[in-house]
Amino acid sequence: MSQDEKKDIVLSVKDLKVTFTTEEGVLSAVDGVTFSLERGKVLAIVGESACGKSVTAFSILRLIQKPGQIAGGKIIVYPKNKPPIDITSLTEKSDMLYQVRGGLISMIFQEPMTALSPVHTIGNQICEAILLHQSVTNKEAEKHAIEMLGKVGIPQPERRLQQYPHEFSGGMRQRVVIAMALVCQPEILIADEPTTALDVTIQAQILDLIKSLQRDLGTSVIFITHDLGVVAQIADDVAVMYLGRLVEQASVRAVLKDPLHPYTTGLLKSLPRNETKQARLPSITGNVPSLTHLPTGCPFHPRCPDSIPGVCDVGDNPVMERLPNGRLVSCCGARKFKEMTKT
Ligand SMILES: Nc1ncnc2c1ncn2[C@@H]1O[C@H](COP(=O)(O)OP(=O)(O)OP(=O)(O)O)[C@@H](O)[C@H]1O
Ligand SMILES: [Mg+2]
Repeated sequence: MSQDEKKDIVLSVKDLKVTFTTEEGVLSAVDGVTFSLERGKVLAIVGESACGKSVTAFSILRLIQKPGQIAGGKIIVYPKNKPPIDITSLTEKSDMLYQVRGGLISMIFQEPMTALSPVHTIGNQICEAILLHQSVTNKEAEKHAIEMLGKVGIPQPERRLQQYPHEFSGGMRQRVVIAMALVCQPEILIADEPTTALDVTIQAQILDLIKSLQRDLGTSVIFITHDLGVVAQIADDVAVMYLGRLVEQASVRAVLKDPLHPYTTGLLKSLPRNETKQARLPSITGNVPSLTHLPTGCPFHPRCPDSIPGVCDVGDNPVMERLPNGRLVSCCGARKFKEMTKT
């Protein structure tokens, strides 16, 4: 039995491939991503801008629009006490897809304002989400909306329900978005950089809120961020992404203590630490290459301080493999280490 088979998995993504057809050619924005989310846990997907985090999230809800398409792979959700659903095989506009979106899996988008309509009251919008997925009366939906606004820490929820999004501060608006995402008690919440637009104090409050609601409601969460500091605060497990592929997967504790992939090490080094008062933080050298001009060998090798000439810059992109110690990494250096420990 594999390590994953022993776990209670709520979502499995296998060999996901997403392409965009552009004037420059077909871009592989997500290329063979495989991971699973454990029930009741928080999995963080972390990586620099444009590495494919949002595209992965959008694929799970089947929200990839033309010129993009899911070009391969399987996404399966395992609802509690119900048969599994193969999301990738659902037809557009099928009832099941509507049930999955918002009912089973809910998402907080990177831009909070896109989730709220400026011309409808907060109450109308939350009640609409409830009525879409639950057979309750308008009065019951309103009661439920008031309870949920209270849970996310909005004072005087009865009065606030009658107000419009522009009457809320940025932090309060994000609380409303969280209330809307959780009001139907989804089994999975995908939070795509939900705190990036907020100032640091509010950011910490929102992270605490998501964590406490996740614990209370038992929701499984995919939390997308570019910041390993945020990962440390909120997640159980982490998947590190670079140029459309996962390069390392482990528990947060393992990654913070002993990162294996040089890219993960680079992300960790660029975190601000209180104890070291450096004028400038080290960042990963070089730029992320364009998807249309990928280097041969490991796509990270031009930026990698540990790159081995003749090993890392030749051949195919390294695949994710499990090391003898159980850790998952996709790195020519690690592959070499594995070969060395065999003898
Ligand atoms: N509609 C589109 N057409 C063409 N390319 C796209 C489209 N949407 C996304 N991409 C490309 O897919 C890649 C992954 O984008 P994605 O939005 O997933 O990045 P991300 O990791 O979420 O970045 P960020 O941290 O900036 O949000 C990028 O190279 C992006 O340019
Ligand atoms: Mg994004």
